[in-house]
Amino acid sequence: MIIRSADIMISAVRPEQYPPDELPEIALAGRSNVGKSSTINMLLNRKKLARTSASPGKTQTINFYDINHQFKFVDLPGYGYAKVSKSSKEQWGKMMEKYLTSRENLKDIFQLVDIRHAPTIQDKQMYAWIKEFGFNGIVIATKLDKIKRSERQKKISTIRKELDMKSDDILICVSAQTKDGKEELWEVIEEIFKVNGFVFE
Ligand code: GTP
Ligand code: MG
Repeated sequence: MIIRSADIMISAVRPEQYPPDELPEIALAGRSNVGKSSTINMLLNRKKLARTSASPGKTQTINFYDINHQFKFVDLPGYGYAKVSKSSKEQWGKMMEKYLTSRENLKDIFQLVDIRHAPTIQDKQMYAWIKEFGFNGIVIATKLDKIKRSERQKKISTIRKELDMKSDDILICVSAQTKDGKEELWEVIEEIFKVNGFVFE
């Protein structure tokens, strides 16, 4: 994919702020700090477009990014940050549900998990939810640079097993640091748009 432009459209808190949905979009879900914003930056060759932070809970809004005026990436707020209050957790749930049920042009949601750790209960719930909504159930295992190559297969097996992934469900390992997995991920993204009738050059 040639990136000609990549811009933040809006950090939305309320559905009225969501941009019009005539362009197709793909959203990234996962716990706080898993690397959602970093993965978006990696895909777009941008260091700071999507804001990243060493302190979890940074992205509390739904951030829409316009790419080439052709499609959007959506950075969803992370879950699972222990210090977040009960009312923010409720707000998170409402926000996610509204988003997931109101976007006509949402073509897929990727579930991100940290390759080093077994999926949490919330990861399992999120993934089950994604599947229930009828999305593909593509998993992105992040921070590949943090493990030894010899550990990779075992980590992948754990993630597949814990999330109850089917053998043909796609799992892609990426590293925002080394850019491993970037091309493979783009191929999957392009294929999703293609099967939905969107071909970008
Ligand atoms: P929230 O916005 O809080 O939900 O977090 P997020 O999922 O957007 O995570 P973010 O991209 O902000 O990354 C969190 C931290 O992990 C940052 O310090 C990143 O630099 C780091 N990080 C993300 N991806 C990678 C990676 O592939 N390798 C390494 N080594 N660090 C990474
Ligand atoms: Mg983020």
